[in-house]
Amino acid sequence: MKLFLDSADTSAIKQYAHIISGVTTNPTLIMKSGRDFREVVNEICSIVDGPISAEATAEDADGMFKEAQELSSWHKNITVKIPMTEEGIKATRLCADAGIKTNVTLIFSAPQALLAAVAGASFVSPFLGRLDDIGEDGLALVREITGIYKNYSFGTEVIAASIRNPVHVVECAKAGAHIATIPPKVMAQLYNHPLTDKGVKAFLTDWENAKK
Ligand code: G3P
Repeated sequence: MKLFLDSADTSAIKQYAHIISGVTTNPTLIMKSGRDFREVVNEICSIVDGPISAEATAEDADGMFKEAQELSSWHKNITVKIPMTEEGIKATRLCADAGIKTNVTLIFSAPQALLAAVAGASFVSPFLGRLDDIGEDGLALVREITGIYKNYSFGTEVIAASIRNPVHVVECAKAGAHIATIPPKVMAQLYNHPLTDKGVKAFLTDWENAKK
């Protein structure tokens, strides 16, 4: 399983550069960074040598495809995030035919994930936390998609997105998701356990006593 950071915060990206192999952004995360879109995406590309998702915002397929051509010209690692709409699926096909990598985003059902894979998406992003938020089962969707993809030779990788806690990450790994894109707050939680802290402290105290 690969870990991506779901953030446009370049200090957090630098902090976790040792463990992540890609980064996902979206217009909300770019807005939160308070920075120019192109400037921040280019900086992210200079920190992490792996897929960096940048989102297209046009609503029609031709507009999305034009944006995809522009975004993918910024850096070889840019993956164009395309929203899961009928126009988005048309744009995904155009991008696949043109050799532009895509991440079909805002996936909330198995049929949507199937369409994206058939259209040649490089990645799909099921948003599991947002499904949980409305009382549905986000992890069940991730399991369903990985199960369907295993039946075929789709090259599409599943990025489990809208991750809210470490349990989500572990369950996505059990489900065989290729990637989890994790916000910095959850990434920090993955490292920690109170018994580790207690054990480290005890060993350090004993080591000091052993040297006396
Ligand atoms: O990558 C998608 C992710 O940014 C959405 O997360 O927390 O806004 O549901 P969230």
